[in-house]
Amino acid sequence: MITNVGILGTGKAIPDYILTNAELEERMDTTDEWITSRTGIKERRIAPPDVAASDLGAIAAKQALDKAGASPEEIDLIIVATITGDMPFPSTACIIQDKIGAINASAFDLSAGCSGFVYGLDVGQNMVRGGYQRVLVIGVDLLSRVTDYEDRSTCVLFGDGAGAAVLGPVAEGYGIISTDIGADGSGAKFLQLPVGGSRNPITPSILANREHYLRMSGNEVFKFAVRVMEDSTERVLEKARIPSKDIAWFIPHQANVRIIRSAAVKLKIPDENLYINVDRYGNTSAASIPIALDEIVEEKGISDGDNILVVGFGAGLTWGSAIIRWGGVMK
Ligand code: UT7
Repeated sequence: MITNVGILGTGKAIPDYILTNAELEERMDTTDEWITSRTGIKERRIAPPDVAASDLGAIAAKQALDKAGASPEEIDLIIVATITGDMPFPSTACIIQDKIGAINASAFDLSAGCSGFVYGLDVGQNMVRGGYQRVLVIGVDLLSRVTDYEDRSTCVLFGDGAGAAVLGPVAEGYGIISTDIGADGSGAKFLQLPVGGSRNPITPSILANREHYLRMSGNEVFKFAVRVMEDSTERVLEKARIPSKDIAWFIPHQANVRIIRSAAVKLKIPDENLYINVDRYGNTSAASIPIALDEIVEEKGISDGDNILVVGFGAGLTWGSAIIRWGGVMK
């Protein structure tokens, strides 16, 4: 018998400090008008210097565990989707395991850029199908740490945050009903942090030339995003045999309101079923979808049986989408 795997609890962590478009206007050659019209972003959150990915991730994880009614000891596996972990190794998942006291969990990080949380859902559900009872999936990124605040074409876009979900078995007819993850590595060059790994270890000249920051060909990523969001959501709807009119909440990766709206129009998702918070947080990478999901749970309300469609795209280049039928939690 195939186990149905659902989300038992969600959580998030958002830094307090708000970096507004007005402040960016003062710091560089940009305008609120440009940022708003090209991206829909008004403000983003930036973590203080002493806060790292594991700190935000642990807060989100504890909230998700609380809401799932699960103790840290019950967690079998922690998957942390991130491209800005505390350090290259050990994994941020291991650091969070220790922070939250999940002493029985195995732990690893997953690198799929902004698609990371959806990748984590897919890997996590399969681990539950394989016998695990509780899998914690965390999406966390502090892109402010790898962003060049002298490069106006990227620094206006990104913010910091974390979101988390606890996965476990749910009743038949509920849970993750279809997924679609994929990659096109030929687009790796369009969004990357080219130094700091085994290809180009950090050297004094890299630092002097300000090459230790992320680089992006915005237009290329934009075109990719519009295409894969349409293709991937079509596939995942088809696999689930659900028409888009039966989607209660459409949660696209929050990168750019123009990309979000183009996907919503293609899918014929009306405004009341579309969730947008990119105006408040900018692009928080792997955290964007779980933050949105937790906000909907907390502030909008999701009913048992609601179909949630999530879709992400990002560095790799990668994409991932999933349909989750909410509820079915077994007491
Ligand atoms: O999670 C995945 C991560 N990445 C993404 O989702 C990014 C996807 N791409 C995008 O969202 C858009 O491509 C951007 C928002 C990055 C850029 O928007 P665009 O409409 O593609 O603008 P553009 O790159 O074609 O730039 C247009 C102009 C350029 O000036 P010229 O060459 O036309 O004179 C830029 O120099 O806008 C200029 N520009 C700015 N002007 C004011 C670029 N950044 C800024 C800025 N303020 N911050």
